[in-house]
Amino acid sequence: MSVEQGRRRYGSSGVIGAPLDRVDGRLKVTGAATYAAEHRIEGVVHAVLLGSTISRGRITRIDTSAAEAAPGVLGIMTHLNAPSFPALTPFITGQGAASQAVMPLTDDVIHHAGQYVAVAVAETLEQAREAARLIQIEYQAEPPRAELESRLSEAYPPQPFFGGIPPEYRRGDPAHGLDEAAVRVEQTYSTPIEHHNPMEPHAAIAVWDADGSLTVYDSSQGVFPTRQGLAEALQMPIEKIRVICPFVGGGFGTKGGLWPYTVLAAAAARQVGRPVRLVLTRAQMYTSTGYRSQTVQDVKLGARQDGTLTAIVHTSTSIGVAIGEFPEMAPSVTQMLYACPNVETKVSLVPMDLGIPFAMRGPGEAPGMFALESGLDELAEKLGLDPIELRLRNFAEVDPESGHPWSSNGLRECYAQGANRFGWARRNPEPRSMRDGRWLVGYGMATASYPTVGFPAQAKATIRADGSAVVQSATADLGTGQYTVMTQVASEALGVSPDRVTFELGDTRQPFAFVAGGSSGVRSVGPAVKMAAEAARTKVAELASGDEESPLGGYDVELIGAEDGELFVRHDPSRRETYAAVLGRHGLDEVTGEGGVEMAMNPGGRRVNAFGAQFVEVRVDPDFGLVRVTRALGAFDIGRVLNQKTARSQAIGGIVFGIGMALLEHTVIHPTLGTVVSPDLAGYLLPVHADVPALDAFFVEVEDPHVNSLGAKGVGEVGITGVAAAIANAVYHATGRRIRELPITPEALL
Ligand code: MOS
Repeated sequence: MSVEQGRRRYGSSGVIGAPLDRVDGRLKVTGAATYAAEHRIEGVVHAVLLGSTISRGRITRIDTSAAEAAPGVLGIMTHLNAPSFPALTPFITGQGAASQAVMPLTDDVIHHAGQYVAVAVAETLEQAREAARLIQIEYQAEPPRAELESRLSEAYPPQPFFGGIPPEYRRGDPAHGLDEAAVRVEQTYSTPIEHHNPMEPHAAIAVWDADGSLTVYDSSQGVFPTRQGLAEALQMPIEKIRVICPFVGGGFGTKGGLWPYTVLAAAAARQVGRPVRLVLTRAQMYTSTGYRSQTVQDVKLGARQDGTLTAIVHTSTSIGVAIGEFPEMAPSVTQMLYACPNVETKVSLVPMDLGIPFAMRGPGEAPGMFALESGLDELAEKLGLDPIELRLRNFAEVDPESGHPWSSNGLRECYAQGANRFGWARRNPEPRSMRDGRWLVGYGMATASYPTVGFPAQAKATIRADGSAVVQSATADLGTGQYTVMTQVASEALGVSPDRVTFELGDTRQPFAFVAGGSSGVRSVGPAVKMAAEAARTKVAELASGDEESPLGGYDVELIGAEDGELFVRHDPSRRETYAAVLGRHGLDEVTGEGGVEMAMNPGGRRVNAFGAQFVEVRVDPDFGLVRVTRALGAFDIGRVLNQKTARSQAIGGIVFGIGMALLEHTVIHPTLGTVVSPDLAGYLLPVHADVPALDAFFVEVEDPHVNSLGAKGVGEVGITGVAAAIANAVYHATGRRIRELPITPEALL
């Protein structure tokens, strides 16, 4: 949308939507942005965690004497001398903040390899590392349950997801729907364990004050939930805890809940009476801070000859563990994406001796849509229908789960504009029919969709005597652009240019925000920021309106607009006065406004989802099975785009993530030892520049008057969904080989 269209549609000043550079960009590239471990704390000492070498069993003996006697050592904490940690309320219940319910160091039981069994604290990092090495632990090991596929018969149902979503869903009569189908697809698709690999590892610094209050600098997607979990774990009043996190070096979900390392840093700091810094190693992030669960998914599709779906049955089994629960909600999307009268979904868990899985970018949808959208591609081929046409014939005019209208749904525009821009019409539907020299060429597409969650959020806006403004909300910017976009929202609502607005986040002393996850940031924090800014502006307008000395005196507040730091009468813009002048005449240092929104998943009963269409071109080497993605394009409906540049970055970042998921990422668990085979960036393959072609992403801007006061849904996660299926579908089109197990490796294609 052009600035002009924005003005007409939203009365926008043009600040919202503009491709503003990241306001924190300079801080980041100059190294001035302070990440969790980088805060300078007087007298800080270092903690190193020791992980279990066995995957299941018990600790039979611990000898810490050599470690305690080593130079510089201040303390060694094990389950024998740790404070007693209660079972924590899991994040996944919708009530708690803890990613895992059972803290390590509570007893002698080992639930997974890498479970923390000791914390060594010393004056220097090297001394702490050496002390951890000197701790002697003997175990009684049992064979771990380390394989999922062979144990599907042990599956059990999880608790309702996030406080309410049951593990099973059904509408209509799926068995009958399959019976009456002219064409059926029944297949099993599987996805492996994948790990978040943010550049910044998890890290915390814990500082206790003499009065028993605690400050924690943590790498976190949500300082308020982290504080809540810390209060529970340490059994102390929540008001005595402050959590600070101004910058996050990547999160992707792994920093969305409280992990034990943060609690252990705080407990260790209390025990040694010094501030403690604790930074996880990359290897530790493969066992103790979540991962995307492996899934085995069965998909059954039935359709009439014209392509209309008569039934979808989609079940998924993922990893269940003893220390908590995080079901991968892979089939959720199947309940709402297509207009099908008969739908059944089910998730279940198989007990394994691993660390707990957690949300990873596009949780649920990313693996779920690999299965569903691959299945639809198989169905399209059986029907002799174009894959886009099949999807259009099943387009859901309303939310098929509730029967209510969508908040907005621009999926049709995404298909049409995406196909056009990609050149989909050049695709010869025959598999293995397109070539470029010796390379087999394939085109594939898939739908993208992700719910954008509406969490509660509050904000405060302060207009200062010099006419500049500070706006606060304790959300997070995990590289998403939140600093920048909230600056734009505040700027427009205040009528103060963006370079005179400072947005602050990441401190529990600021107004409440929930975790920056579930693509919730813009949708939830945006309207709170807008309200707070409007409240502050209105207060100043009221002062001017009631002041005979002001050129605005006597004019109704509703008639007063604001731009470039000035208030003005809308129908007589020559009557104007700066914020600074109004505050100055009233002797005010600042004027403050507040705003907030409640939890709102489906406003007015309308489901809020971002949508998209992913298009991919691959070239496959017929002799070596090597797949190269040579073009990728995503067309997305995220409602109103608040910043064309940062939104596009989110979208293409999602596509890069999807390329990794489709072709490279795979955490291998040793089948008998239960350990992560290569917990590092040498063994865990991620896409590098050579794996990523020039990407194209654009937005079809659909008006959404329901989602919130900004008309903006969320863009964080929709970009990855659909990519793996689009690539698998393109690989099929290139080669005639259908790969139903990720990642698609050369071995699988040979
Ligand atoms: Mo996201 S995986 O909900 O941070």
